[in-house]
Amino acid sequence: MRVFMTGASGWIGSAVIPELLSAGHQVTGLARSDASAAAIAALGADAFRGSLDDPSGLRDVVATSDGVIHLGYNHDFSQMQAAADTDRGVVEAIGSVLKGSDRPFVVAGGVIGIAPGRVATENDQPDPGLHPRTANVDYVLSLANDGVRSSCVRFAPTVHGEGDHGFIATLVAIARERGTSGYVGDGSNCWPAVHRADAARLVRLALEGAPAGSSLHAVAESGIPTKAIAQAIGTGLGLPIVAVARDDAAEHFGWMGRFFGANATASNTMTRELLGWNPTHQGLLEDLAAGFYFR
Ligand SMILES: NC(=O)c1ccc[n+]([C@@H]2O[C@H](COP(=O)([O-])OP(=O)(O)OC[C@H]3O[C@@H](n4cnc5c(N)ncnc54)[C@H](OP(=O)(O)O)[C@@H]3O)[C@@H](O)[C@H]2O)c1
Repeated sequence: MRVFMTGASGWIGSAVIPELLSAGHQVTGLARSDASAAAIAALGADAFRGSLDDPSGLRDVVATSDGVIHLGYNHDFSQMQAAADTDRGVVEAIGSVLKGSDRPFVVAGGVIGIAPGRVATENDQPDPGLHPRTANVDYVLSLANDGVRSSCVRFAPTVHGEGDHGFIATLVAIARERGTSGYVGDGSNCWPAVHRADAARLVRLALEGAPAGSSLHAVAESGIPTKAIAQAIGTGLGLPIVAVARDDAAEHFGWMGRFFGANATASNTMTRELLGWNPTHQGLLEDLAAGFYFR
């Protein structure tokens, strides 16, 4: 397939490019800067200059593609509604071109908060009020009724590996700053995890074969106690490991407190059965023990 991908220069996207190329696909990645275009080209894909802020500029490249993967997003937590509004413009622009084509349209989602208090499955639908972005994913999945083979890959909150700049890297930075590695409450709340390379393979499998309207879980480990994550970070940095009272989580962790205190256990059974996905790379605690998060 000729695949158009947003977020191609990002953490997950830059692993998806080689995954797609090695399966024989051609990839064109959205680049908003010279640096992003160079990163995309260095991975062997073509760069298309444009921006998520100008969705109409994406129409032609979408029209000449056999499938679209949309991973690009503005993660500025101080602009959550604005970022979701921009994203809405992008998915609507892509969706309007793909309607009636039966071509695949894969978007990114997350698993935190979709099934509070129990193990989330692929059949769970997030509450529309969960995040300003939730409605955009719902819109994409609804395109299944308009002749688009749309799907959502819901990533674990940590897509880990060497070079990660996401939640785990943030927790490491907070521990360094505080001089302690904390967990919230008794640390029994769990986070699911997936290695970046396994996540990239699932994105390819979704592009190639996810049924229209399906949600997939990029979750290799269904739930790791956050206390174990804090212990691994404390060990890696040589810092004391401490419990942080739930009421003090925002003060200690900042915006991360809400996420690190959440229980987000999620299963992958349906994803494995549907697409034959079989995560094989090392787990989060093994990656933390490898040392690269602390260099
Ligand atoms: N990583 C995780 O643990 C995780 C967990 C759950 C969900 N997700 C979701 O998975 C997707 C990929 O995540 P990621 O970790 O790979 O994100 P990332 O590393 O932050 O990459 C974001 C990508 O979006 C691009 N982008 C941002 N604003 C743009 C704009 N205005 N125009 C064009 N491109 C723009 C960036 O381009 P530049 O290179 O130019 O900055 C980059 O390629 C996201 O939708 C994210 O929300 C990720």
